[in-house]
Amino acid sequence: MKRRVAILISGRGSNMAALIDAAKAPDFPAEIAVVISNRADAPGLERAAASGIATVVIPSKPFGKDRAGFEAVLQQALDDKQVELICLGGFMRLFTADFARRWYGRMLNIHPSLLPCFPGLDPHGQALRAGVKLSGATVHFVIPETDAGPIVMQGAVTVADDDTPETLAARVITIEHRIYPEALRLLASGRLELDGDRCKTLGSAASGGTLIAPGN
Ligand code: GAR
Repeated sequence: MKRRVAILISGRGSNMAALIDAAKAPDFPAEIAVVISNRADAPGLERAAASGIATVVIPSKPFGKDRAGFEAVLQQALDDKQVELICLGGFMRLFTADFARRWYGRMLNIHPSLLPCFPGLDPHGQALRAGVKLSGATVHFVIPETDAGPIVMQGAVTVADDDTPETLAARVITIEHRIYPEALRLLASGRLELDGDRCKTLGSAASGGTLIAPGN
């Protein structure tokens, strides 16, 4: 049986689209049951509908700081669709600790940096200001702290001296679209094991790759 997944978005939804595409494969262990947005104008909604995926809009603005109130409606929508796993794809709303704990081990997020470096806003600007030579993207389990939690998968890119936040973001997003479906595949097929703050991957082989920057 395929695991039933909800993707939560607030905007463009390119990671959502990558997950939807991956889930079309007959042997993919998860199906996208619903895409939920907290903004009615999220461009990703149209993209999801065009792929034949059910969409739900739960505007978060009217809830203001009442995060628990918003989450009660969200939880009802998840129950209605019998959702087992959640993928956050650019979902720009913080959860209460209660909601994060309720879904612990069953909710993934993607962030465009090599966490624990550069959580929060403007990760590419943070990376460039820090002068790192490698950056990338991280898929992790969601915990109450923002952009933190056991790391499932990471992918790295080199950073060039003349990179801008935009050029770096363009390189990192291609990595995001590769690692998010793979991370969901691992979770949905039961290959992830939480061990305290760490996530282990059952049956994985060390890839042994290296990435060195700057090159010559
Ligand atoms: C992605 O780059 C994702 O990693 C980031 O928002 C973007 C959403 O793009 N998420 C965060 O920064 C979470 N802190 P998308 O809507 O095209 O997937």
